[in-house]
Amino acid sequence: MDLISQLDEFERAALAEIAGAADSTALEAVRVRYLGARQGRLKDLQGSLGQATKAEKPVVGKRFNDVKNAVTAALDERKRTLSRPAVAAGGLDVTLPGTPFEVGRRHPLMQTIDEFKDIMGRFGFTAADGPEIEDEYHNFEALNIPLDHPARDPLDNFYLATASLTAGTGPRLLRSQTSTVQIRVMEQQRPPIRIISVGRVYRPDTIDATHSCMFHQMEGLMVGETVTMAELKTVLRLFARAYLGHDVHIRFRPSFFPFTEPSVEVDMSWNEPGKPWLEIGGAGMVDPNVLSAVGYDPDRVSGFAFGLGVERFCMRRYGIRDIRLFTNNDVRFLRQF
Ligand code: DAH
Repeated sequence: MDLISQLDEFERAALAEIAGAADSTALEAVRVRYLGARQGRLKDLQGSLGQATKAEKPVVGKRFNDVKNAVTAALDERKRTLSRPAVAAGGLDVTLPGTPFEVGRRHPLMQTIDEFKDIMGRFGFTAADGPEIEDEYHNFEALNIPLDHPARDPLDNFYLATASLTAGTGPRLLRSQTSTVQIRVMEQQRPPIRIISVGRVYRPDTIDATHSCMFHQMEGLMVGETVTMAELKTVLRLFARAYLGHDVHIRFRPSFFPFTEPSVEVDMSWNEPGKPWLEIGGAGMVDPNVLSAVGYDPDRVSGFAFGLGVERFCMRRYGIRDIRLFTNNDVRFLRQF
């Protein structure tokens, strides 16, 4: 057999045995048999190279190198394959790293709302709920907001156009304030009442860093025989201090809301020179017309009410400067809370 044929035969036999090696021990035996430095078959073939004629030498030498490289490469490849962990039937490689378990957390606003309920709970206020799709009676009428009031302008509210929703019940809208829940609670309960209601409200505002067409309010309502405005201010101060710290101050500015008399805007500030007052909501003593609308006797009971912007508090506490971050769903933001 000429040298080229011997090399061909060597390669074919070596590759077949490499492919057939069942484990790394068997593979190592194959390697020693074919490429072993002392007794390997390649060693014998190398010895035979000297028999080639001068003319044959370059061709035989090249073939020798090619065969050696091919067998070496096949050995390496088979070695990698054998050292790879077993793949279970069905192609599932149980040793591959799994999908990491990402631990989720509550949205910062939901955490804030939980904390609000907790703080107000300590003051004896229980949490109440109302629907986000409201009728005009609860969003306006019962709150003493007359038909011609600008707050009822369709351009300032999200009225729903769905016929099935409005059929028989009059127009519906996404509530523009949580004050609706005051009415729903007073329709169901008699005084004394001490509730808060935290939830979403909707207004067609132009969206920017401080405005959104959906945001959250915390509504508060306390009704009893001798509820006063001094108590209102105390509750608001205690609440703001519990959430933001003891250097928080509360200020009332005279204002107007149809459902309270007198009415105030509520501002908050800190013992930080140069920091302006920040408006956080509205409040006041429940208007007698509202008490009458739910069948209470305004001569026998009085009450205070307030509505605060939840985002404002949360943004102040964490130094968040853009309200849009709450709804952008960017995990880099959400992960921080
Ligand atoms: N509902 C008012 C608003 O959204 C805020 C408000 C003002 C709520 C006075 C009250 C209140 O309960 O008494 O602007």
